[in-house]
Amino acid sequence: MSLKYRRILLKLSGEVLHNRETSQCIDPDVLMRMSEKIKKLRSMDAEVAVVLGGGNIFRGAIGEKIGVGRSAGDYMGMLATVINAIALQNSLEKIGVPTRVQTAIGMQEIAEPFIFRKAMRHLEKGRVVIFAAGTGNPYFSTDTAAALRASEIGADILIKATKVDGIYTADPVKYPDAVKFKKLTYSEAIAKTIKVMDSAAFALCMENNIPIMVLDFFEEHSLEKAVAGKEIGTLVTS
Ligand code: GTP
Repeated sequence: MSLKYRRILLKLSGEVLHNRETSQCIDPDVLMRMSEKIKKLRSMDAEVAVVLGGGNIFRGAIGEKIGVGRSAGDYMGMLATVINAIALQNSLEKIGVPTRVQTAIGMQEIAEPFIFRKAMRHLEKGRVVIFAAGTGNPYFSTDTAAALRASEIGADILIKATKVDGIYTADPVKYPDAVKFKKLTYSEAIAKTIKVMDSAAFALCMENNIPIMVLDFFEEHSLEKAVAGKEIGTLVTS
């Protein structure tokens, strides 16, 4: 399959790593599947940058529920994304995919800090770059971090890979008669206050004209189809 989109920002949900049955927050099988899928993308000659959430470990919004407040909760969530990033880096390198982790919060003993020019060099050299620790600021989601990094690196597309195969008129898990959108404009997505992604992330992509594709991570060949420009998931554009 030839590429329609060459430089990809892949936003992966941390939640998919969670195994409810075994209570493992990082399921090794899912981690390996994730890595294999990224390896496949790279073998198509795509430049791949990844933002992986941290919801399998800690979600910022829980902060208030456990009495630590929103900011502390968000920082805890950002640290959770670093844990996932290290796990993904190790898993990718096990299958021969060179990977660099860059964090938005300085923790140089663990990983490189986010440096735009270095990130670009890594991508040019065929390394997968995992951007961790969100934007480094509370009150921003990992989706917004993905939109920000996609804008900075000039990504051709932001692919949000989740458990659902696109954007629906309502949550398809709760409302089985919900209808999937094949395409949406950024303004429609923002106006419908679609829960799939927050409006700050949509707005950033709109300003920088980065298409967003929402698709099912687990569907076979979904990522390859997306970068080849095949109809899959929901595409949000101008
Ligand atoms: P090139 O110079 O383009 O070849 O990139 P490189 O990443 O191979 O070179 P560099 O010497 O910058 O990094 C070598 C290794 O050290 C890589 O695995 C980096 O991820 C890691 N590294 C670089 N900077 C830091 C840092 O600030 N902290 C940590 N923990 N690791 C770093």
